[in-house]
Amino acid sequence: MKKLLSASPLFLSLLAIAAVLFGAVDRASAQIPETFTNLQVLPEDIDRADLVATMRSFSGALGVRCTHCHVNRGATFADMDFAADEKPEKEKARYMMRMLEELNTRTLPAMENRREPPVTMTCKTCHRGQVRPFLLSQELYMAAHDQGADAATARYRELRGKYLQAGAFDFTEQETASVAQELLAEGLTEEAIALYELNTEFHPDSAPAWVALAQAFEQIGDTDKAIVAYERVLEINPNARGVQDRINTLRQ
Ligand code: HEC
Ligand code: HEC
Repeated sequence: MKKLLSASPLFLSLLAIAAVLFGAVDRASAQIPETFTNLQVLPEDIDRADLVATMRSFSGALGVRCTHCHVNRGATFADMDFAADEKPEKEKARYMMRMLEELNTRTLPAMENRREPPVTMTCKTCHRGQVRPFLLSQELYMAAHDQGADAATARYRELRGKYLQAGAFDFTEQETASVAQELLAEGLTEEAIALYELNTEFHPDSAPAWVALAQAFEQIGDTDKAIVAYERVLEINPNARGVQDRINTLRQ
């Protein structure tokens, strides 16, 4: 395993690039030891600069600090015990490193008709700044199910605020609508409407987003709100088929 990793300079250079891009997670690298005593996956003779770059790329890819995986025995960076294996996260990271190496050096190269240039997977390919790389649809579904409509909208706003720029989550209206649809099918109407409302808030000029919201309001018998939403559809697209008829029917 050590040979495999040391035999892949691309792996290390990608990590180094990521480290530069993500900037200094810690500026105290002077306090990182000169020699390493407990490397089980990385090459034992790894260059100190490469090790630091690799560690920074881990922090950046997962959106965490060094202490997510390493114990600190005191209050300052000088008290970090990097060689210790006390934190289960460190062992999980080793598991992930081996998995990644397996994917990049065996699994993917063995795929028939692989295209050039090959995609080299990194921690960030999956993690995208998340410790646990759930998709937006999974985050919303879990929040809606376990904690209700308010929690789902709060989670959406939180993730959108933090990650819109990073592109870590899919904020297209389709992604959110697909969860709303699923919730609707399960009878979780309030939760579904909360998500459709988010779509109209963040995609205010999307006729489909307003149609979906109008239909959900119709489904719970809230005719007034359905009409308002359908009227918004007509403002966006005065020729929207059947919408004026639908409004007329609802007004009767
Ligand atoms: C996601 C988990 C994770 C994060 C975050 C992380 N590390 Fe590590 N670190 C590891 C793992 C795993 C090893 C052991 C690698 C191996 O066994 O080859 C390690 C090893 C080290 C070592 C070598 C210790 C030794 O003597 O064997 C140092 C030094 C180190 N990390 C520094 C850092 C610094 C500094 C940061 C923050 C910038 C950091 N790490 C962030 C997982 C992490
Ligand atoms: C193929 C996708 C994938 C890649 C590549 C990947 N991970 Fe993960 N990782 C996951 C998933 C999924 C989980 C969540 C597992 C769970 O708890 O359900 C996870 C969990 C973790 C955890 C545990 C987090 C916690 O606190 O519970 C650590 C640490 C971690 N990954 C580190 C890494 C590091 C470091 C790399 C790069 C060497 C990496 N991962 C590459 C998919 C990936």
